[in-house]
Amino acid sequence: MAKTAILELDGKKHALPVVVGSEGEVGVDITSLRRDAGAITLDDGYANTGSCSSAITFIDGEKGILRYRGIPIEELAENSTFVETACLLIYGKLPTRKQLANFSDLLTKNEMLHEDMKYHFEGFPPSAHPMAILSSMINASSCFQPGLLEGYNPEKFDLQAARLMSKVRTIAAFAYRKSLGLPAIYPKPTYKYSANFLHMMFSEPYQDYDLKPEVVKALDLIFLLHADHEQNCSTSTVRMIASSRSNLFACAAGGVCALWGPLHGGANQAVIEMLESIHREGDDGTRFIAQAKDKSNNKRLMGFGHRVYKNYDPRARIIKAQCDKILKVMKISDPLLDIAQKLEEIALKDDYFISRKLYPNVDFYSGIIMRAIGIPVDMFTVIFAIGRMPGWIANYKEVMDEATTRIYRPRQIYTGPTLTHYVPIGERK
Ligand code: CMC
Repeated sequence: MAKTAILELDGKKHALPVVVGSEGEVGVDITSLRRDAGAITLDDGYANTGSCSSAITFIDGEKGILRYRGIPIEELAENSTFVETACLLIYGKLPTRKQLANFSDLLTKNEMLHEDMKYHFEGFPPSAHPMAILSSMINASSCFQPGLLEGYNPEKFDLQAARLMSKVRTIAAFAYRKSLGLPAIYPKPTYKYSANFLHMMFSEPYQDYDLKPEVVKALDLIFLLHADHEQNCSTSTVRMIASSRSNLFACAAGGVCALWGPLHGGANQAVIEMLESIHREGDDGTRFIAQAKDKSNNKRLMGFGHRVYKNYDPRARIIKAQCDKILKVMKISDPLLDIAQKLEEIALKDDYFISRKLYPNVDFYSGIIMRAIGIPVDMFTVIFAIGRMPGWIANYKEVMDEATTRIYRPRQIYTGPTLTHYVPIGERK
């Protein structure tokens, strides 16, 4: 591979360094372009822009490959847990038994919320979307974290990371209980991460939730599969905020807001709503597919397509298998699963989807599992956010540990009016 790329502008040649990643990805480093050539690159939606170098997650969208710190997602799904995978992402390698025990211990010690946080919860209307509550409460809880606002301190990072990961789960469960007007259920230190979340969601003060190992495992897997996905919209948001040296909780609150949208994490909610509406209308999916292809309306086949994957999303394959398994174990027959399978079958044979390389993504089947577990639709994106927390934390750490990170500040090509002058209000037409 050549070490430089040549860009010719106005007859002048500019040599730009070529950067090659550990998996052979090639980037042209344009850091000096504006200084040397007076020009910037324009890449609407950043589809061709590497915003950073990162050693956390590798995706090959053409081949449908996803690896965390080099380990294939399939191996982690088969052998690991969410908390172990979180350690891998945050610290760069699989933890030893002792490291894992220490991290789990930190999660347990930090699972409670400050009691004054309950006043914040009380301020939300019952109809508040749990993503709004999650984002606000993560930010509010930053005020209760001693030392957090003093700036990044690598020695205190483990504690802050564990605090965030643990408290997010408690906030999410409290938000759910609040939306139903139910009393908050406090975490149990003897429960592991995902079991504890289910307990806080579904136990009652007079009766503990019956924790079925298959259900705990399914939820843990959903968290694990969402744990990181390189420079997506929310992770880029987290890195953007981190570059201004904001604190970890503020970055995560911003990440939650970015994740909320239906084109990103909100797609899992949108998928179920789409399937429900197809079901209500008595369609088997055929009519909906025709509408999703028709550009005269703005319907899309939610849970299909991906900016990076131009092949089957490897997470979707794992989730689909888990979906079949959990419905069987729970003896649930869900008509929405039949519709989803029919949609997939039609789409994968349809030239519209084939030519645009649109395949099922992680959100296509995850909602059906969450429905089976009893998680309400408006909590789906919250589940995604809990799962994505280790990825955001790892990316935050990478930004903070990189001595040369500058504040993220993209440029633009201005297309507004050229110089124009202020007109007093009485003279305006
Ligand atoms: N249904 C119908 N048409 C689609 C779809 C879809 N789901 N996705 C893309 N297209 C079409 C789009 O209309 C365009 O067609 P044309 O070239 O004729 O104008 C072409 O495919 C390329 O689409 P794009 O919008 O330019 O692609 P993008 O890379 O900007 O968007 C996406 C990626 C995920 C936002 C998009 O595929 C989409 O909206 N999918 C549905 C929402 C969804 O499932 N989002 C979850 C993504 S995975 C979880 C996560 O990481 O957040």
